[in-house]
Amino acid sequence: MNSLGSLHPRIGEASLQELAKNFYEEVRKIPELRSLNSEDLEAAERRIYLFLVQVLGGPQTYSEERGHPRLRMRHMQWEIDAKLRSYWMNTMLNALDKVALEQEVREELLNYFTQVTHAMINHD
Ligand code: HEM
Repeated sequence: MNSLGSLHPRIGEASLQELAKNFYEEVRKIPELRSLNSEDLEAAERRIYLFLVQVLGGPQTYSEERGHPRLRMRHMQWEIDAKLRSYWMNTMLNALDKVALEQEVREELLNYFTQVTHAMINHD
């Protein structure tokens, strides 16, 4: 198991729930992101929460409900360029800043989001 996949017990589900909540609270304020999202932001919040629980080594409920994540493929429906990536990343940074996390855990999460957001770019 990589270290990302062992974070779940160190973070705990309450903090991940808080992170997902903060993230979508921020998304509501950013038209560039809000316009891409569905009407049902509560459902969206639950999906990213369950996804994070799974990636960090917790229960696999995300895949039971949604199937294999295939994140890059699922994101192909939006034109994600460097600018949109920055909006997402800054939004997540703001969301992370409001959750009390061990420094090491915060850094692991930041590294992960940095990498995955880069991998999600599908447009110049
Ligand atoms: C790079 C910029 C990104 C953009 C612009 C973006 C945009 C979106 C949008 C618009 C949705 C739909 C939400 C809804 O249903 O209303 C979504 C879903 C989702 N995103 Fe992203 N996203 C990005 C990066 C990421 C990253 C880095 C992750 C994970 C580390 C991620 C994980 C997810 C997940 C798990 C879903 C739900 C997929 C599903 O089950 O349908 N996204 N994203």
